[in-house]
Amino acid sequence: MNYRPLGRTGWRVSDISFGAWAIGGAWGDVSEKDALAALHQAVDSGVNFIDTADVYGDGRSERLIAQLRKECKEEIIIATKAGRRLPRQTVEGYSRENLTRWIEDSLRNLSTGTLDLLQLHCPPTELYYHPEVFANLDDLVKAGKIRYYGVSVEKVEEALKAIEFPNVQSVQIIFNCFRQRPADLFFAQARQKQVVILARVPLASGLLTGKLRSDSTFVANDHRNFNRHGEAFDVGETFSGVDYKLGLEAVEEIRRLLPTGVSMSQFALRWILMFDAVTCAIPGGKRPEQVDENCRASDLPALTAETMVGVQRIYDQSIRPLIHQRW
Ligand SMILES: NC(=O)c1ccc[n+]([C@@H]2O[C@H](COP(=O)([O-])OP(=O)(O)OC[C@H]3O[C@@H](n4cnc5c(N)ncnc54)[C@H](OP(=O)(O)O)[C@@H]3O)[C@@H](O)[C@H]2O)c1
Repeated sequence: MNYRPLGRTGWRVSDISFGAWAIGGAWGDVSEKDALAALHQAVDSGVNFIDTADVYGDGRSERLIAQLRKECKEEIIIATKAGRRLPRQTVEGYSRENLTRWIEDSLRNLSTGTLDLLQLHCPPTELYYHPEVFANLDDLVKAGKIRYYGVSVEKVEEALKAIEFPNVQSVQIIFNCFRQRPADLFFAQARQKQVVILARVPLASGLLTGKLRSDSTFVANDHRNFNRHGEAFDVGETFSGVDYKLGLEAVEEIRRLLPTGVSMSQFALRWILMFDAVTCAIPGGKRPEQVDENCRASDLPALTAETMVGVQRIYDQSIRPLIHQRW
């Protein structure tokens, strides 16, 4: 496992880290036994950074991570999120009172006195025009409730606006072979300011693992069943917003570029790590075998320039015209 600086925090984190949404909820049922085994596998593979949120399984994901922390001696840095408990996303909802209450809940779930990194959970674009929200976060840092704060965003424009606030340490954004726009302008600016970039949905919700087929089915409580058209939350969070059939076709084209002995999932993750501005990818994993396979991407040799051009060509031809400007 390789490690990269976590922005200006002084910490170094595994370049393949762990996304803990699926072990919380909205991805079908994952048993507590499987979830803990996946988390332990991550730590055994060298992962020292986990992304979660208060709403993943209504605190279940955070509580499982607290359990992991009790069961292992390694230092693990936890990034959680707040804001999705609101019935409707409004700027007013991100008030000092609400933020304080959500943070207290996360502190309890994570059995800790201070949150390592708190991210606003895809707030409305308008929030970035309200500096008082960031002033409140500064106060929560001073009060010792959170060490650092950052944001999780849907759009590149939000990411660019967020890093105008000097104490925003991190930006979490969808970045993968099917979602390349963040690399255009945002990466250079974030790098200049030493802002952490967390590449989320790195496997395009499983599409980029190469295991899905046109007749694959998903259980009722899996967002790949209930959010395919953005029925419950932003459609970009499900298969990266790429049409399922078109995505499958593009995966078959990418498969032709795979170096010998490298799986599709590993290739997709190694592609992300080719971008120096990225701090880490945070793939989700429900079972230890998935986590083990994903973590091995860290130690793979760099992809060749020819391979990178190949992925670019597939993106430009099949994906860019449909989604590039949307997020
Ligand atoms: N708004 C936000 O802030 C936001 C939104 C989305 C995600 N996130 C964060 O980003 C993390 C990653 O994104 P994600 O979980 O949505 O999607 P992802 O990482 O692209 O896909 C994860 C899913 O792919 C499958 N998988 C993983 N590794 C595999 C392997 N080696 N072989 C086969 N299948 C494999 C698993 O599901 P199956 O086995 O069921 O296929 C797994 O749950 C989340 O966990 C969360 O921490 C944040």
